[in-house]
Amino acid sequence: MESYTERNDYDRSKLIKAALEVLPRSYAPYSHFNVGAAVLMDNGEMYTGVNIENAAYSATICAERTAIFKAIAADKNAKIVALAVVGGKDYTVTDYCVPCGICRQVMREFAEPDHMQVIVAKSVTDYKAMSLAELLPMSFGPNMLG
Ligand code: THU
Repeated sequence: MESYTERNDYDRSKLIKAALEVLPRSYAPYSHFNVGAAVLMDNGEMYTGVNIENAAYSATICAERTAIFKAIAADKNAKIVALAVVGGKDYTVTDYCVPCGICRQVMREFAEPDHMQVIVAKSVTDYKAMSLAELLPMSFGPNMLG
């Protein structure tokens, strides 16, 4: 079986570039940790998102969910092909920014875990790619509800 991380049937650079380009729009006045994400759907559309914080901290939303919810608001039947995420303190990307557990579960709702690719990037050339199944093993999904 082909290793999922070798999947190359979409423009990975374009997705990472989009995540880097949207990063300056992150609204994170409390943590000063800024995140940008870009998601590619199986209908061919790409959506970007940033984290948007709130004075009532728990109302904060991550960049990944912003991007995914934009995509699903446009087409609730679309499935996620891949998602790229970049982030760091004060808009500076020095390390890989990995999706939080809540975002992984939201991805699970709209993706096939073995077929969705998650890319954590420092730049267009420095990144790691993995399947959602690797990030969220033994996941609970819509199929469980019958
Ligand atoms: N954050 C994201 O947007 N995505 C991640 O993958 C990790 C965390 C945001 C949430 C919060 O605004 C800030 O980063 C610090 O947790």
